[in-house]
Amino acid sequence: MPCPSRRAALAHAAAVAALVAAPAAFAQSAAPIKVGLMLPATGTFAALGDMIEKGFKLYVQEQGGKLAGREIQYFKVDDESDPSKATDNVNKLIKRDNVDVLVGTVHSGVALAMAKAAKENNTLLIVPNAGADAITGPMCGPNIVRSSFSNWQPGYSTGVVAAQKGYKRAMTITWNYAAGQETVKGFREAFEKGGGQVVKDLNLPFPNVEFQALLTEIAAQKPDVVFAFFAGGGAVKFVKDYDAAGLKKAVPLFGSGFLTDGTLEAQGPSAQGLQTTLHYADSLDTPRNNAFRKSFALTYKQNADVYAVQGYDAAQILGAGLAAVKGDIGKRDALTAAMRKATVDSPRGKFTLSAAGNPVQDMYLREAKGVNNEYRAVAVKALADPARGCKL
Ligand code: PHB
Repeated sequence: MPCPSRRAALAHAAAVAALVAAPAAFAQSAAPIKVGLMLPATGTFAALGDMIEKGFKLYVQEQGGKLAGREIQYFKVDDESDPSKATDNVNKLIKRDNVDVLVGTVHSGVALAMAKAAKENNTLLIVPNAGADAITGPMCGPNIVRSSFSNWQPGYSTGVVAAQKGYKRAMTITWNYAAGQETVKGFREAFEKGGGQVVKDLNLPFPNVEFQALLTEIAAQKPDVVFAFFAGGGAVKFVKDYDAAGLKKAVPLFGSGFLTDGTLEAQGPSAQGLQTTLHYADSLDTPRNNAFRKSFALTYKQNADVYAVQGYDAAQILGAGLAAVKGDIGKRDALTAAMRKATVDSPRGKFTLSAAGNPVQDMYLREAKGVNNEYRAVAVKALADPARGCKL
């Protein structure tokens, strides 16, 4: 048995150790989680990036500014939707700012570079928009999830609807880059399976908006239906030009919902009545969506759109991962597993993530009315991306 003085010395040593350890442990648990937002703040997708950021921050704010007890600190880079600058830009967040998690981006080409860097550096990546199929296909990885869609999903669901409506001859029109090509591919797959035929693909370089020659070609060929993928500022101009060319009444225009999402005010009468499919509809009359839209409108004095939803859900997925490890972001395997297993209580409706990390979700048929994309029907229930090429 130790003598009293030795016992006192031991107790003293233990107390000192506890005092030394306590601030360290406290500092660790109180250190903010560093979130790197890589989004477009300029260019044709600027408004989309803004809405994603607002959605993400709204969810964090609703949790009292913390996820699983950890403050969130933001680092930002404007990626300009420019793939040639993407690797440099993402490295600013990974290497200079040393972020814990990357959130980005809108443009598929930029997101592919982010996914490559995230894999090489083993950084967590949550993609809040860009649909590049490869991200949850050949490039899939445990550290990468998406809160949005794969390009295949909205393309495929629009093809299902166009075939169901009995259209036989379609032309497609889009920007010539991953998102445009892959969305058109998804459309073609479902449309041709349903008995239709794509007779011609038209495209122009991203982010050009000189549509005139292509619209003239549509007018000359008179297909039964046109399928378009455009978004942001480019979608505003395309929908107006389509109408101004006299095509709106002559050839039905279909699209993935990005054609009319976040754009209706700027498009005015030209967009009214357009039908699209997407994993969200403004008017979904559920308590969850109504509460979200109210909270968003109160906070930002503007209406939410699909991009805001995707940003909000990116924060929810991160929150689910962090909750499972009680905020200890060092417990990487448990964190990524919990993110994958989450059932996300999204304004779009509850969804789960596939093994590849992509939402399995209902795709809705919507119609543009006033400033809303109104819900019309479920186009395809619980649509899962085929995740071709993903090996985990
Ligand atoms: C993309 O590049 O993946 C993309 C961009 C804008 C959208 C949808 C997809 O609205």
